[in-house]
Amino acid sequence: MKQQQTVLITGAGRGIGFAMAQTFAKEGYDLILNYRKAQGKSGANLKRFMESDLAQGVNVTLAQADMSETKEIENMVKTLKKEGIERIDHLVLNAAQAPFKNITEMTRSDWKLLLSSNLIGNVACVTEVASMMTAGGTICAISSLGSRVVLPKYPLGIMKSALENLVGYLDVELYERNIRVNGICAGVVNTDMAPFLKELWPEMFERYENSSRRWLVEPEEVANIASFLISDRSSALRGTTLLADLGMTLTP
Ligand SMILES: NC(=O)c1ccc[n+]([C@@H]2O[C@H](COP(=O)([O-])OP(=O)(O)OC[C@H]3O[C@@H](n4cnc5c(N)ncnc54)[C@H](OP(=O)(O)O)[C@@H]3O)[C@@H](O)[C@H]2O)c1
Repeated sequence: MKQQQTVLITGAGRGIGFAMAQTFAKEGYDLILNYRKAQGKSGANLKRFMESDLAQGVNVTLAQADMSETKEIENMVKTLKKEGIERIDHLVLNAAQAPFKNITEMTRSDWKLLLSSNLIGNVACVTEVASMMTAGGTICAISSLGSRVVLPKYPLGIMKSALENLVGYLDVELYERNIRVNGICAGVVNTDMAPFLKELWPEMFERYENSSRRWLVEPEEVANIASFLISDRSSALRGTTLLADLGMTLTP
């Protein structure tokens, strides 16, 4: 029988992260669900999830840490080890936060937040967690279209380009340990972010809302692709990022 496997998802309290928690639980993975704060929607979702039937069939551990703070990430992993978790099989880098501003309006502290949350924090998390992985482990990074097209007031796109590049570098670095690293570049996803993005990019939303093509990706659809990437079924994929935008970028 195959060994029971554990997935750590960052920013697992809402949106795509929460959809992945539900999907992976259904598939029988043990879960480590990272969240930033106990209050608010993420706290409430995770509390409900812990009490749900879905969470009863697998081991679920909640792990608090602000992913922009390397010290908190190190402490999170120390706490997990103290709780008896010695091995993590899969890591999903999902958490993201950013200022939504033009590049020329970004302050030093905006850049600090952008870099610490989306690049330095993710690398710190990989460094801590990869040391707990064994052969067959995977890392999956969640990226967005800002990595490949210029979106107004979306400096996060620069970090997503870096993240997709990091996927390749990490895969090469971790190859000898047989840890695979891949990413998903999702189009516009139907999470709390969608109404916010509609306000940010009204013309783009209007154009797609008036087209016949379905263009809003559901969080569960991203979770299904992540499920594939962390499984052996995707064994031929290494250091690549899959585009999941419902064909939105096929035409200008
Ligand atoms: N929605 C989209 O259209 C879209 C498209 C492509 C890619 N993505 C990417 O998919 C991922 C998830 O997006 P989403 O739409 O599900 O976002 P969301 O609904 O805004 O949720 C973001 C999650 O990340 C957590 N988070 C943010 N900063 C954190 C930090 N410093 N430490 C720990 N957790 C933190 C949030 O926790 P709190 O609840 O505490 O805030 C929340 O759980 C992100 O990487 C995003 O860039 C999203």
